[in-house]
Amino acid sequence: MSDPFIFRTPWRPRYEARTLILTTITASLLAFIAHVQALPDGLFFEALIILSVPALKRVPKFMWLYFRQHRLHGFKTRVMPLKALRARHLKDPQQLFLGHGFTWGREEGQWAHDLLEGHQGLLRKRPHRPGAHWVHGLAPREQALYQPVEDGRGHLLIVGTTGSGKTRTFDLLIAQAVFRGEAVIIIDPKGDRDLHLAAVEACRLVGKEEQFMMFHPAFPESSIRIDPLRNFTRASELAARIAQIMPSQGPGDPFKAYSQKALDHVIQGMLLGGERPTLLKLRRCFDGGLGDVLSKALERHCEKIFGEAFKTKIPAIKGSRGDHRAAALIRFYRDHLKTLAPLPDLEGLMALFEHDATHFSKMVASLLPILNMLTSGSLGALLSPDPRNVDDPRRMTDIARIIERREVAYFGLDSLSDSLVGSAIGAILLSDLAAVAGQRYNYGKDLSPVHLFIDEAAEVMNDPCIQLLNKGRGASVHITIATQTFADFTARLGSEAKARQVLANVNNLIALRILDAETQHYVVNNLPIIRRRSIMRSHGAIHPGQHPVLFSGNQNERLEEEDASLFPAALLGQLPDLHYVGKFAGGLIVKGRLPLLTAP
Ligand SMILES: Nc1ncnc2c1ncn2[C@@H]1O[C@H](COP(=O)(O)OP(=O)(O)OP(=O)(O)O)[C@@H](O)[C@H]1O
Ligand SMILES: [Mg+2]
Repeated sequence: MSDPFIFRTPWRPRYEARTLILTTITASLLAFIAHVQALPDGLFFEALIILSVPALKRVPKFMWLYFRQHRLHGFKTRVMPLKALRARHLKDPQQLFLGHGFTWGREEGQWAHDLLEGHQGLLRKRPHRPGAHWVHGLAPREQALYQPVEDGRGHLLIVGTTGSGKTRTFDLLIAQAVFRGEAVIIIDPKGDRDLHLAAVEACRLVGKEEQFMMFHPAFPESSIRIDPLRNFTRASELAARIAQIMPSQGPGDPFKAYSQKALDHVIQGMLLGGERPTLLKLRRCFDGGLGDVLSKALERHCEKIFGEAFKTKIPAIKGSRGDHRAAALIRFYRDHLKTLAPLPDLEGLMALFEHDATHFSKMVASLLPILNMLTSGSLGALLSPDPRNVDDPRRMTDIARIIERREVAYFGLDSLSDSLVGSAIGAILLSDLAAVAGQRYNYGKDLSPVHLFIDEAAEVMNDPCIQLLNKGRGASVHITIATQTFADFTARLGSEAKARQVLANVNNLIALRILDAETQHYVVNNLPIIRRRSIMRSHGAIHPGQHPVLFSGNQNERLEEEDASLFPAALLGQLPDLHYVGKFAGGLIVKGRLPLLTAP
């Protein structure tokens, strides 16, 4: 193929077979005649040699064609026990195993186009198996595919239709991250049982069972308790974290903006009062009035200035509670402290407290359902853990601690039962992780790798996750996201520009079977263009006049080159389960297939 004047295709009919059959028949005939007629042996052998030499010359060509065409039959799915994967990992821990396959280059591209367009008959002869198994037979052999772990320290996008193998790819990558002893956070909106089990098994194999933890709203009794508001640098971050999961009526939605501002003031108030904000406390505050939070913050401020005896200076608070107490404290603050020791961070909350209650409740009407949703029933204790509740045996943690201790955390979001709650939990956890990544980025300490795996990523994608994709590499947070189509990102994020931001930040791509044409074209456009060769044949006959004897004809054969995609887009829609085309950082393009880690 490298010679520009040679055009050779393994898909042509095996003409050599005819020569070989004919030679064998003739040789047998000769042997028979020599035997029957009792002819001298020498004559027979001479004739046989003359016949065999051209036939034998065709044997290698025939074998080559047979072997290449036979490989189009397809392959059985490999099963690789976790132990075998571990053994592979131990041989070279710095290599990431990506299944079996081969480098996909210009030649494979050319042959795939040829088969699709000119040799459909050959493909039809293959035994029936769903999907274009033959694609994997285009190379003479497959081998184990590896990527140096260091090269893969970016983000990976896995795209494929339902049942194509996204979650099984996660199994493989998660197991290897666990073997490397790195922190792993898995966000699984669907709650795939096998994914959970694969992560547990991988931990068990390396004796890290203790370090595995699960969060699952449907199994609260075996779930961990995690505070998604635990990590932040500024109070405004927490307000934005909650506001971003509110339904929006478009950019600049005044209700959302007001709710975010109100959350900001309340969270400031809680922090000034020495309280750590949790979702449950915020709900109580918005449901039951701002008086308590305000009173606590003001009392703490007064205590700082006047000491324990400050209560004697404000007789109005004696015996009063709630809003009355808050009102008395506000009066005292304005009369005596505003100039002496101002507390600008709390003045917003004071204004909010004095705001018309009906108008306030109307403005935050869309925030309350969100807070209710994340705090009702068993979710209350799961997402707003109370460290003072020593009776609760469930483990309590937060994202920063998971990362610090290099643990493996699986978050099943149970989106199938309630997609709204699942998306909200996923999004708020991602925001928390983004805050932790920001701190790692800023302070640069302990930059051991963190792996974030997000299955069905479009369900939880949000702005903090885009920031994570954007800056995560600097904080050693490596993200693997799986989706069915890119349109899912556009639908979730509300604009194509944002969806493009997601795609622009990934430097590794695994494309499984893709049915959506737009997504197919995105993948194919990401691959190089090749110059595809084809033979054009034409023939014609000309009768220049009426005379029947005057006749001329021509026959042309032309080798042409034209631009073509390295991998035909339509073929992406026909890949069998677990087969993929991968493009990895450093320019490596492969056709691979993944093993199953669990027995079929
Ligand atoms: N243990 C197993 N034995 C045999 N086949 C399996 C096994 N586990 C998964 N598969 C097959 O592998 C394919 C890929 O499954 P996987 O769960 O990874 O799909 P997916 O792309 O995540 O799909 P979805 O979007 O529906 O979650 C499926 O067709 C499934 O039937
Ligand atoms: Mg899946």
